[in-house]
Amino acid sequence: MSNDQYSSDTLTDFTPETTEPRRVVVLISGNGSNLQALIDAQSHGELGGEIVAVISNQPNAYGLKRARDAGIDAVVLPHREYESREAFDGALIKVIERHEPDLIVLAGFMRILSPIFVQRFYGRLLNIHPSLLPAYQGLDTHARVLADGAKEHGASVHFVTEELDGGPVVIQAALEITEDDSVETLKNKVHSREHLIYPIAVKWFLEGRLRLGAEGATFDGVPLPPQGMRMSHADAAEELDEDIGEES
Ligand code: GRF
Repeated sequence: MSNDQYSSDTLTDFTPETTEPRRVVVLISGNGSNLQALIDAQSHGELGGEIVAVISNQPNAYGLKRARDAGIDAVVLPHREYESREAFDGALIKVIERHEPDLIVLAGFMRILSPIFVQRFYGRLLNIHPSLLPAYQGLDTHARVLADGAKEHGASVHFVTEELDGGPVVIQAALEITEDDSVETLKNKVHSREHLIYPIAVKWFLEGRLRLGAEGATFDGVPLPPQGMRMSHADAAEELDEDIGEES
């Protein structure tokens, strides 16, 4: 082999490694406990990427402090300063795109998104919702679950589509409702489950295992069932060190 050939073969085979971490933008409106779970996962090297910005439509959202404390760019974009939903969403798109995200994570972002926004980031938008979707879409899920005497509740991560709380579910964590449960206890239990499953879903996405295709959400190329992956009550309770009474 001539020297020339050797060097040319070597150059052809050389593929530069991408060392840039995958980029995540998180949208919040309030407390940001899910944001904190994502920040914690990142600091343990378990997120599969980096949160490059947190954007809030509420100037006093506590999550902004969580972002700043973690050294993350915290941006306030008050929706009240825009004359229409479309105008606000247009501005939001611009701020998000400045950060060149691979994924946009809605973590308690209390705004209905316009079709233009959803289409712009289609397949790169995740949301977390406090119910076992498709049950209990919308607000006040804990009170509605209790009023119905339901036996089971939980949290779901789903891709965002134009149907409110209706996009393909990625992962759910279930919880069994007991006689002692109130809106407050359910809220806490659901929150703890959210903090377990959201970092998992984000990591799957950033690793390229989770996708939204024509046939819905897929995991490692296989279509997910309508309720996504499921963490049972027992598994979640064990993970969270919850007292599950006689069963434990
Ligand atoms: C969570 O319960 C989530 O399901 C809903 O908004 C709440 C946000 O809580 N979408 P936090 O701000 O992350 O604490």
